[in-house]
Amino acid sequence: MTSPPAPMRRKETRDFRKGGGPYVCLTAYTAPMSKLLDPHVDLLLIGDSLGMVVYGMPTTLGVTLEMMIAHGQAVMRGSARACVVVDLPFGSYQESREQAFRSAARVMAETGCNAVKLEGGAVMADTIRYLVDRGIPVCAHIGLTPQSVQGIGWRARGRDDAEADALRRDAAAIAESGAFAVVIEATREALAREISDMMPIPTIGIGASVACDGQILVTEDLLGLSGATTAKFVRKFADLGPQVSEAVAQYAAEVRAGQFPGAGQVYG
Ligand code: KIV
Repeated sequence: MTSPPAPMRRKETRDFRKGGGPYVCLTAYTAPMSKLLDPHVDLLLIGDSLGMVVYGMPTTLGVTLEMMIAHGQAVMRGSARACVVVDLPFGSYQESREQAFRSAARVMAETGCNAVKLEGGAVMADTIRYLVDRGIPVCAHIGLTPQSVQGIGWRARGRDDAEADALRRDAAAIAESGAFAVVIEATREALAREISDMMPIPTIGIGASVACDGQILVTEDLLGLSGATTAKFVRKFADLGPQVSEAVAQYAAEVRAGQFPGAGQVYG
């Protein structure tokens, strides 16, 4: 007699180990999309990129904790096996470690997600340690940190010696902070490789290096749903934008022709 299949369980942060990858990670903001992605990925991130991708904001700075919680709940409803991580938005954690704890605790309690992510290296290491010691798993995020683009701009990090050294210091501080993983975004390849090799925790690259332990992309970018604004390092695996346009044009043409597709079939 064959034994019944083991019940499916959601991946947890402790399933992410150095050398255990490559880990497949994508952003998700809604229940239907997370349902489609869930069978294929190790980690779903409710990135604060949702401010730009879903809400059309110019940067991520206008995203609120309430938005992150609402979308975190949606992704949890749509997924069953991926580890789910929710970004802490700008202004919800930088003031003090106590403020960070209050925000992270709300996110964890109200969404049921596995972990939070926050941006910053050396400057945030103490806050990460504070959260981790109080039972909140944290993913760090270094390199290009979109919540700081106002000062520095959307450009690759680590391009001169001073920036490279600062990034090495960020990585060293995160390595000691208790974070379970670190996102390295838009960082010169050789430097991202060097950092990934020295980190005792999994590194998740985005425009970084194939030497990272995993990769994350904004899902809409790889599906061709982000219009012309896609970052240079993104490879599109589909071009759904034109297909959506075509389908909607077809629908509009049929309605305008008086066909009202689907009407009259519900009540006989
Ligand atoms: O907000 C986001 O989507 C992110 C990923 C791009 C890493 O932080």
